[in-house]
Amino acid sequence: MILLQNLLIWVHVMSQIGAFGGLVIIQYGLPRDVRDTAVGARVGPQIIQWMLAIGLLAGVALVFLRFKLMGGSPGAHFLGVVGVKFLLLLVAGATIGISCRKLREGRIRPAERLRVSAIIALALGALFGVML
Ligand code: HEM
Repeated sequence: MILLQNLLIWVHVMSQIGAFGGLVIIQYGLPRDVRDTAVGARVGPQIIQWMLAIGLLAGVALVFLRFKLMGGSPGAHFLGVVGVKFLLLLVAGATIGISCRKLREGRIRPAERLRVSAIIALALGALFGVML
């Protein structure tokens, strides 16, 4: 069980690091004419959405595992922190999606602002993650 838990934590953390790092590279590493195009709005963000989905699945599995390992509720602190992380992950997923739509509409400034919001949401998620 401990091995499974460690494996899930690894998948969870790797996918969140990947999503955060990928977004930072897109926003601050790519030239404007690559990131702010319809193709830029499709390929990179799609991979990041997949990473978020994998991270979410691993996170949900970890919550179930905690319930199983402890044989009861893991406590208000744990559930509160996970709840906030869940909301932050939803915010990140939604802002990435909406930012891609804005890019397709040619609205570059709002798209960039939304991308930065997703980076901030994931950074906050990692902060809450280490508070568990
Ligand atoms: C905003 C996105 C998220 C980020 C950046 C994030 C990051 C992290 C990090 C860095 C840890 C490792 C903490 C440590 O071992 O010291 C962690 C653990 C954990 N995360 Fe997340 N997380 C996110 C979203 C979620 C979601 C949505 C869930 C559940 C639905 C979740 C459930 C968990 C659980 C249960 C653990 C603890 C595993 C354990 O020690 O038993 N996380 N997270």
